[in-house]
Amino acid sequence: MRVIAITGKGGTGKTAVAGMLVKCLSQNKKTLLAIDADPDSNLPDVLGVKVDKTIGDMREFMLEERDRMPPDMNKERVLESKVYEVLNEMPRYDLVVMGRPEGSGCYCFANNLLRGIMDRILKNYDLTIIDTAAGLEHLSRRIIRDVDELLVVTDGSRRGLQTAERIRELAISLSLNIKKMHVIANKVTPENRSRIEEYARELKMDIIGIVPFDETLSRFDLEGRPLSELPQDSEALRAVGEIAKRMGL
Ligand SMILES: Nc1ncnc2c1ncn2[C@@H]1O[C@H](COP(=O)(O)OP(=O)(O)O)[C@@H](O)[C@H]1O
Ligand SMILES: [Mg+2]
Repeated sequence: MRVIAITGKGGTGKTAVAGMLVKCLSQNKKTLLAIDADPDSNLPDVLGVKVDKTIGDMREFMLEERDRMPPDMNKERVLESKVYEVLNEMPRYDLVVMGRPEGSGCYCFANNLLRGIMDRILKNYDLTIIDTAAGLEHLSRRIIRDVDELLVVTDGSRRGLQTAERIRELAISLSLNIKKMHVIANKVTPENRSRIEEYARELKMDIIGIVPFDETLSRFDLEGRPLSELPQDSEALRAVGEIAKRMGL
């Protein structure tokens, strides 16, 4: 079981990288789970999968129904079966969407159950890739506890790398027990490449790989086509494949 969360400033390409990683990794034999943990979910679109229900919907269901359930009913088992209902089984990987964060009610009960359920689900897979929001919401609420590695995506901006630095500090302050942190520089052009490398050196960040700005990817995005349909010779896809190899995935 290896769990990797993809983080970084908004717009740097976290979801694009997550989608391309899933595409590359679904070709090998390992069992793979993709989790969309961004409340503003768009990993399903990038993967070309239609998802109607989220873990958040199941949590709401649980809170609404709990008082109507017989007292001896095992609530954890009910929620667990609901969570399995929202697990989308694709031929080569499974996908689950966390959905919107909770409203103003008390969610401790449901979240406590969810923690145990997510722990068990993650154990069923060799590899889990989590696309997050920059704020690490689901990680900071500890719904997903077993993250081993952070893959921080940055673009050419200095702020992108500063966010990477903040994420590193946040992970430490939340005692997330992260074993490794890698930085991917995305949307790299011949013009901004040396600047990114210089910022990374200043912040003492190791860049595990560089993903070029890819016109094909950009066109797919504009046309609303899923990145899962990217041709194998897409420069960005090839670069992500190399990174996966370097990470031993
Ligand atoms: N390597 C790349 N080449 C070209 N465009 C890219 C690349 N990576 C991401 N993009 C584009 O950048 C925008 C933001 O990407 P997205 O993955 O949604 O970012 P995030 O999930 O970090 O908010 C999208 O329009 C996406 O198509
Ligand atoms: Mg995203």
